[in-house]
Amino acid sequence: MTGQPLNPDAAKGRRGLIAALVGMAAAACIVAVLLVLPAAQADPYSRQTLELSGSSEKGGRLFRLNCAGCHGIAAQGLVGPNLHGVAARKSSRQLIQQVVSGRTPPMPRFQPEPQAMADLLAYLNGLV
Ligand code: HEC
Repeated sequence: MTGQPLNPDAAKGRRGLIAALVGMAAAACIVAVLLVLPAAQADPYSRQTLELSGSSEKGGRLFRLNCAGCHGIAAQGLVGPNLHGVAARKSSRQLIQQVVSGRTPPMPRFQPEPQAMADLLAYLNGLV
């Protein structure tokens, strides 16, 4: 028995199909990024928080109650990192996400009211 003769047209057809599938996957990724990014920008909790003006004094109190166990009483770092100058590394939006997302264990996910989050943010932004 001889094998099937190689059919270059069939191989070309398969390559075309693979290229089309890769192209569709890439297009799907682009659509996903275009849909997801603006949604993240428009996250209503962050937007609401950023519209409020926070009190760093109240934020400091919240910090000592909720965060100092890990970040130190003066945010100097303990289990969690030193937070002085953190505002230079992270935008306000990123700081909010850091507090509410729970994406970096062991730091838990906090759910402060927007005003409390605005106060915490004022405190974090004031840590130079
Ligand atoms: C159980 C310990 C723990 C508690 C409580 C905690 N954190 Fe954290 N935090 C961490 C750890 C650990 C990291 C580092 C996470 C990583 O990047 O992997 C971190 C990271 C951060 C960062 C990012 C620091 C940087 O350099 O990018 C910020 C900002 C922060 N925490 C703020 C807070 C605030 C505000 C609170 C209180 C509402 C809090 N944390 C409570 C452990 C904690």
